[in-house]
Amino acid sequence: MDRTAQLTARRADRDIAYDPPPAADSPHAGAARVLEENWTGTSTVPSRGLYPHQWSWDSAFIAIGLRHVSPLRAQTELETLLDAQWGDGRVPHIVFNPSVPLDAYFPSPDFWRSSTAGRDAGAPRTVQTSGIVQPPVHALAAWLVHRADPGLSRARGFLTRVYPRLAAWHRYLLHRRDLGGAGLASVVHPWEQGMDNSPCWDAPLRRVPPAPTRSFRRADLDHGAAEDRPTDLDYGRYVRLATDYRDGEYADGQGLFAVEDPAFNALLIASEHALAGIARELGATGTARHARAERLTAALIDRMWDPASGMFLCHDVRAGGLIPERGVSGLIPLLLPTLPRDIAATLVGTAYGPHFGLGRTTRLAPSYDLLGEAFDPHRYWRGPAWFNTGWLLERGLRTHGERDRAEALREAMLDLAVASDFAEYVDPYTGKACGTTRFSWTAALTLDLLHDFEELMDSKGGNRG
Ligand code: SER
Repeated sequence: MDRTAQLTARRADRDIAYDPPPAADSPHAGAARVLEENWTGTSTVPSRGLYPHQWSWDSAFIAIGLRHVSPLRAQTELETLLDAQWGDGRVPHIVFNPSVPLDAYFPSPDFWRSSTAGRDAGAPRTVQTSGIVQPPVHALAAWLVHRADPGLSRARGFLTRVYPRLAAWHRYLLHRRDLGGAGLASVVHPWEQGMDNSPCWDAPLRRVPPAPTRSFRRADLDHGAAEDRPTDLDYGRYVRLATDYRDGEYADGQGLFAVEDPAFNALLIASEHALAGIARELGATGTARHARAERLTAALIDRMWDPASGMFLCHDVRAGGLIPERGVSGLIPLLLPTLPRDIAATLVGTAYGPHFGLGRTTRLAPSYDLLGEAFDPHRYWRGPAWFNTGWLLERGLRTHGERDRAEALREAMLDLAVASDFAEYVDPYTGKACGTTRFSWTAALTLDLLHDFEELMDSKGGNRG
């Protein structure tokens, strides 16, 4: 860390501000305490036991909440992550904390070997990272963090420093990761999309021969119930894909798994709109970025909108064609303010219909189709409800004028976050806590929901169609 970063981190350490001071037992104070416990000095771990390093999309969601208690820490969170960016523009999905023992998390730095296997792709020498990525929520987070305290942001040159990095990150995704040739980004591992064991990946993963179970030791089962976590067979396939990518020195385009995902691409589009806002703040027009976001939205619709399902589906780039499974990822494009009105209305109907049950049978949207054969209310991304997808849907509902529904969803999320002690995920019917508790993004997004709604991104134009 250079001197400025050290000083910033030191100042950030002292900088949790409670203004006005919330009551001791309020949801606000409880959520802020989780973020305080999980702060390491330069970033926030998703949870102390299960995820003891810095995770990429977690940090973006964390910064979105942290800005309400410490804009300085929120800026530092994103800066620490971006300091680990690779020369080719990729932002790694994990930045490892060197003081955490190797066996505390698998796959550990000695598995990824970023500084050697990633040398040609420009991996940093001084920090160890994974070699895959996660959804690009970062420009959106940076823009929201800036707007929480523009004076501090300008004084520290926050946007001036992060803008080129965020632009390089998007360039990597839009060029090196356009594996399908449709102008959209592909993920090459289920961990990249973030919804690791979603049934949407079952068909493309079947082509991947699993690494033998005895060739690795899972650390996650030391911290979470086996029935809440992915199976050993899934893990074997994750390990095989990551090993192949590493052994090919993280060059893109070779692997057995390549999927275009609606949430990953919708978040990229939202972040392009946010980059346009950042560009404008820095004195440019932002017009080219808005135009790109519009083109990407059109490509998303052409490639992944499935009128028969009333939602977006994943596109399997290797096999060709849509994957006929309804994952919550296919509702996330509701976030986009420029989505055509009829598509937005259909998505709302699907979220509140029998497959996701909002307002009928479920309290929060499940991660996967309630009527799907693979539905399991407790197993990671095969059914449980997660707070980040809930937050994205809530913002989407507000963006498209569904104020009453958004308000009901917000209240359900606040209730369940507090009652579950800020669980990682919950049973969508009962709200029972699953995975780990005192989970950072659950706490951070709770904080965000406790503040007034603001337009998430600077999108010229509003609804089309
Ligand atoms: N979500 C993955 C895990 O469970 C990897 O990012 O460890």
